[in-house]
Parts: sequence; C-alpha cells; structure tokens
Amino acid sequence: MTDTPNSGEFIVVKAKDNGVNVIGLTRGQDTRFHHTEKLDRGEVLIAQFTDHTSAIKIRGKATILTKYGTVDTDN
Ligand code: TRP
Repeated sequence: MTDTPNSGEFIVVKAKDNGVNVIGLTRGQDTRFHHTEKLDRGEVLIAQFTDHTSAIKIRGKATILTKYGTVDTDN
C-alpha cells in the first residue's frame, strides 16, 4: 500500500446495536473476506486499511467515523 508498513488510514466503528459485523476485504485482484469482527452495542473498533485490507464492510446499525466525515448505516 505504501512504503511504510501499517501507515494506512483508520476508521472508527461505533456499534449502535448488538451483532454489528465489521468485515475486512482483501487488497488485490482477489476480493474476499479475511476477517470478521462482531461488535455489541456500545463497543468501538478502530480499524486500519493495510497491505491486506483495502475495503471494510459494515453490517448492522453503526456509526462510522472517517477523515471524510461521519456516516451511519441505514437500519
Ligand atoms: N480486492 C479489491 C481491491 O483491492 C477490494 C476492493 C477495494 C473492493 N475497493 C472495492 C471491492 C470496492 C469492491 C468494491 O481493489
């Protein structure tokens, strides 16, 4: 991703419900899930884009904070 390992952006995921899933998608031609993290209401996960992760999918009711702003899932 960059010359310096682990220098990717971070996002913050705040779970607004139980059972929110934060899913890491692999970087490169092959797009697959490489990690799923389950959050309960009130839990916060700080996640980073890395050489292995180029996209992050969020399932469930959550607020996501990024350098581009804050977004809520619609459910
Ligand atoms: N493997 C894809 C990639 O590195 C993952 C990905 C990034 C992706 N952005 C996406 C998949 C947007 C679907 C939509 O490019």
